[in-house]
Amino acid sequence: VDFLKETIKYPKHVGALSPSSLNLAELIVEKAKLNQARNIIELGPGTGVFTEHILKRMNRKANFFAIEVNKTFISLINKKYPSINVYHGLAVNICKYMEREGMSKADRIISGLPWASFSKEAQEENLSKIVLALKSGGLFLTFAYFPINHGQSGRQFKRLLLKHFDSVSETDIVLNLPPAFVYICRK
Ligand SMILES: C[S@@+](CC[C@H](N)C(=O)[O-])C[C@H]1O[C@@H](n2cnc3c(N)ncnc32)[C@H](O)[C@@H]1O
Repeated sequence: VDFLKETIKYPKHVGALSPSSLNLAELIVEKAKLNQARNIIELGPGTGVFTEHILKRMNRKANFFAIEVNKTFISLINKKYPSINVYHGLAVNICKYMEREGMSKADRIISGLPWASFSKEAQEENLSKIVLALKSGGLFLTFAYFPINHGQSGRQFKRLLLKHFDSVSETDIVLNLPPAFVYICRK
């Protein structure tokens, strides 16, 4: 699959020029402390860079599924990881897919969603569904690009995170195109 081709077809959805680097994938999954998690959800797996690390790190007894809006990426993931469930749909419908999976609350939600290309309303709506889906004490992890996070929309997104979660911390910046860091948010 040509990631750039999908970006050109769906610029708002993909919101990146290349898949995340291994550095970023390792960082986000390490910070998720998956060994302590029973119910894990990935939003916007794309070509599966984070998915691969999630599968490596999660407990074998844990429940895991993903939600992706792009069919080309879904068929790729289905080929690479036939055992996992990837729902074709929008992250905002997370609760519907949890019901289908028989999952009442999530311990970890790992996001590859392109927040910077969402409107403020879409950011709000998605974040409130994510908070609803998480159990108390559960973690939501997402990345942001540097230095875009210093711009107005980046600061606005951080304010939204602080509004929705009890605590929000940031990692250092890692090599990625563009450089990126991870927000770790606790409900
Ligand atoms: C920036 S890419 C990240 C892909 C991958 N996680 C990575 O880091 O390389 C964003 C992904 O989110 C998907 N996406 C965008 N909006 C979505 C939504 N509302 N619900 C589910 N997936 C979405 C896109 O199709 C794309 O695969």
